Amino acid sequence: MISWTAEKPSNIALIKYMGKKDKEKNVPSNSSFSWTLDHLTSKVELEIQKGDSDTWEPGESDFPFEMSSLGREKFLNHLQRVKDHFGVKERFKVKSANNFPADCGIASSASSFAALTEAAFKACEDLSSKKFSIKEKAMMSARGSGSSCRSFWSGFVLWEEQSLGPQDFAINSLSHMVVIVGGGAKKVSSSLAHKKVESSLLFEGRAERTRQRLEKVLEGLSSGNWSNLYQVVWAEFWDMHALFETSEPSFSYFLPGTFEVLEKTRSFWEEKGDGPVVTMDAGPNVHLLWRSDQKSLALEFYDQNLKSHWTTLSNIEDIGFARV
Ligand code: PMV
Repeated sequence: MISWTAEKPSNIALIKYMGKKDKEKNVPSNSSFSWTLDHLTSKVELEIQKGDSDTWEPGESDFPFEMSSLGREKFLNHLQRVKDHFGVKERFKVKSANNFPADCGIASSASSFAALTEAAFKACEDLSSKKFSIKEKAMMSARGSGSSCRSFWSGFVLWEEQSLGPQDFAINSLSHMVVIVGGGAKKVSSSLAHKKVESSLLFEGRAERTRQRLEKVLEGLSSGNWSNLYQVVWAEFWDMHALFETSEPSFSYFLPGTFEVLEKTRSFWEEKGDGPVVTMDAGPNVHLLWRSDQKSLALEFYDQNLKSHWTTLSNIEDIGFARV
């Protein structure tokens, strides 16, 4: 039995990819910039099988999950895209699994599409003896899920229409917490959100606003101005969620707990003059990023505000995956 396996991490955007210039090719309307979440990964295994189609099933994991039929179709279409790129005709059984709970509402499309692309390239490179660079793989991954192209490198990654790759800064190690205020399947998938936001009157100025914020984020990271970074990233996730709220018809991912956690982070900053960079994906959960020298501050925030209220998933050892 011949099989190929790949594992890839998720990432969280500080400047969000929202809106597409070309929906078929996933050409983004604006540049995006992310931090890779090395501790939250998806694993994909491909095995050659007989028959006339590729199939999907859940892989082995402490956190098993099911994929919707639309999700499966998108996943297997992406495998076909990679196979067509190589001219590979073999049929595969695809197994995928996450190392984090599927019911906690963390977007896993970045890690799962990156892992699928990587495993498919491994298989197709072996079967065809063609070879491609990491960047070419990542660009192909973007065709399946735009945000997945940023998961091919650790640390900070910048995706612009014509360029993609890692970025170096003095701040190069961050701790991450995601506060799970709500789980379950999203009512509006991110693919649908990309389409819906075009109906918002705020969409017109979006590319220019993200361009200005990206400049400030890069400046904040170069100069080490953490509090400026916090403010710009805060404004950016609100901008994306404002697009959702002002689409016609409007939609929202916020839950009551979202407001509560956001308010706690803001009060913490006001009280301490320091705190985490806060952001949200297209979901209700709140992501917090801390510098490595803020560990005791991060634990203080966790003990005071999260520990007895919310399930929190973190790469800070003392927290790990804490369910309440
Ligand atoms: O990769 P997609 O098409 O699922 O887009 C998701 C984009 C966001 O996660 C909402 C933002 C981002 O840049 O990661």
